[in-house]
Amino acid sequence: MKVTQAEIIISAVSEKQYPGEQIPEFALAGRSNVGKSSFINKMIQRKNLARTSSKPGKTQTLNFYKINDAFHFVDVPGYGYAKVSKKEREKWGHMLEEYFTKRKQLRAALLVTDIRHAPTKDDCIMYDFLLHYELPIIVIATKLDKIPKGKRQAHLKRTRETLGMRGEDPIIPFSSETGEGKDEAWRLLESYM
Ligand code: GTP
Ligand code: MG
Repeated sequence: MKVTQAEIIISAVSEKQYPGEQIPEFALAGRSNVGKSSFINKMIQRKNLARTSSKPGKTQTLNFYKINDAFHFVDVPGYGYAKVSKKEREKWGHMLEEYFTKRKQLRAALLVTDIRHAPTKDDCIMYDFLLHYELPIIVIATKLDKIPKGKRQAHLKRTRETLGMRGEDPIIPFSSETGEGKDEAWRLLESYM
């Protein structure tokens, strides 16, 4: 897809703030600092429309981005960041559950993992949480630029096995540095629109 338009619509914390527009939607999920916001930026060729940071916990709200008047990307706050109070974790859980339960226009969830490492326990919990909503789940194994080419297949296999992925769910090796995986990700997203 050629992106000609991309804008932030709203940073929402609850359902009444979600955009009413009935266009397809794709939500990002994943550990803090894994590269969810960077994924969005790379896909839409904007440097920092989705704000990124080298420190975890940058994205704190559900950020809705409208692309080409055709669909939304929803950037979601990450998990697994130690310096978060129990109260904040509860708020986060509530916000995610409300979103995934209520959002009818959601076409697929994109679970972003770090290709260098085996998925964490939290990643596995998130994958299982998403399964519950009977959505397609696309795993984006990012930071591909950080491992040697010869290790790719083994790392992808480990990600698939550790998450216990369903056979039909795709996994896309991706790099927000080099843009590798971008065309494949677009092809897949377009097939869900
Ligand atoms: P939260 O908003 O805290 O949940 O984090 P996030 O998942 O949105 O991560 P973000 O996109 O802010 O990226 C975190 C850090 O990882 C930044 O320093 C990025 O530059 C870096 N990063 C993200 N993707 C890649 C990638 O594909 N390759 C490399 N080398 N670095 C990446
Ligand atoms: Mg972010």
